[in-house]
Amino acid sequence: MEKYIIEGGRPLYGEVEIQSAKNAVLPLLAASILTDEKIVLHKCPKISDVINMVGILGELGCKAEFVGDSLSIESADAANHEIPAALAKEIRSSVFMLGSVVSRFKKAKIAYPGGCDIGLRPIDLHLKGLRRLGVSVVEDGGYIECSCDKIIGSEIVLDCPSVGATENSILAAALGEGRTVIRNAAKEPEIVDLQNFINAMGGKINGAGTAEIVIDGVKKLHGVEYTPISDRIEAGTFLIACAMCGGEIELKNAGKENIAALLHKLCEISCKITAVNDKIYIESGRRISPKLIETSPYPGFPTDLQAPMMALACICEGSTVIVENLFETRFKHIPELIRMGADITVRGRTAFIRGVKALHGADVVAGDLRGGAALTLAAISAEGFSTVADLSFIDRGYSDFEYKLRALGARIRRVRI
Ligand code: EPZ
Repeated sequence: MEKYIIEGGRPLYGEVEIQSAKNAVLPLLAASILTDEKIVLHKCPKISDVINMVGILGELGCKAEFVGDSLSIESADAANHEIPAALAKEIRSSVFMLGSVVSRFKKAKIAYPGGCDIGLRPIDLHLKGLRRLGVSVVEDGGYIECSCDKIIGSEIVLDCPSVGATENSILAAALGEGRTVIRNAAKEPEIVDLQNFINAMGGKINGAGTAEIVIDGVKKLHGVEYTPISDRIEAGTFLIACAMCGGEIELKNAGKENIAALLHKLCEISCKITAVNDKIYIESGRRISPKLIETSPYPGFPTDLQAPMMALACICEGSTVIVENLFETRFKHIPELIRMGADITVRGRTAFIRGVKALHGADVVAGDLRGGAALTLAAISAEGFSTVADLSFIDRGYSDFEYKLRALGARIRRVRI
């Protein structure tokens, strides 16, 4: 296991390049097997979720190779429709493979997906979407087996705007026969990126980013070179880091429109923010409590920034209420923040935070990806020394996290224990 050793209390200055979005790259990798021609994804982060997804593609018979930060995938020889449990259990996005594998091979077998333990994370809407498209889905002994003669376009109405279920339905329908309409679709920017990617391959998809997505199935998709959108959650994480530590930083390759909900909250807290093209500049301010944060599907406040925002709320003047509406157990970071001197009470999915002047160093342990990032931000802003253990969570979604923070002035280093 590895941990960070951090000496907190230093302001952040400088610039940081934002990676391509983890939650865009993963569905694009699933889409790569919809063609037997070469796919190249540029500026691809070498994070463990991507490496695991590449491992899954390898099991299917695809050839994948990193050249610098460009990842190429060739699936002409792909022939296996089964994803081993050991790999499927590593990541949530293994479930996206169902739609693309059954579209390519007309059958698929996969164990229930893994991913951060932030709630029940059912996949009923994924399976409902596939059944609507004419796919037979059998759940047996922890495995899901899918088969069909062909994918037939249909109307899919999602009970809730699930990101993954929207993406899986798009992946299954792209090569289907006829028109598929997804209603109550998720509107996340990563879904727009999936639409743009498949359309660049010759697909016919419209409406991503709205609640109604129309997919006209095509006979074939061709290879393409593509640069995914930047990671709005990584960008938000660094903006919150600056708001907590003080200083002034500039983000490069950061789209302001994808994090409007966070930018508004940071302005409420009294940060000064300017955004020009793909750069966002932030100067920290007095840290006045944001009062209320409620996570909701895009374009609402993103659940993936709930934990980092809570770390910031811990050192704001005044009280903040944070409500986590999407996942049942996404408060694992709270006991660890309390060890650092935070004043937080929890009732169900609602956290009541009373701001303190500063957190103090402590030895803390991450329980999931975004909670690990939140604890790291708390430690670099706290007075004194901290350690943050189990970096395997952070490594799932942030590339070069400690290098980027160190380049901004934080005293942080990784050690093996
Ligand atoms: C995606 O997860 C992201 N992961 C998550 O990011 C993100 O938190 C989440 O969307 C919400 O924005 C990837 O894209 C790989 P959902 P996903 O399906 O698709 C319920 C991170 O930290 N639901 O939109 O699993 C579910 O219980 C990760 O980067 C069903 O009821 O999220 C939840 O309450 C964490 N049935 C809500 O929908 C289903 O079949 C949102 O889940 C599917 C979901």
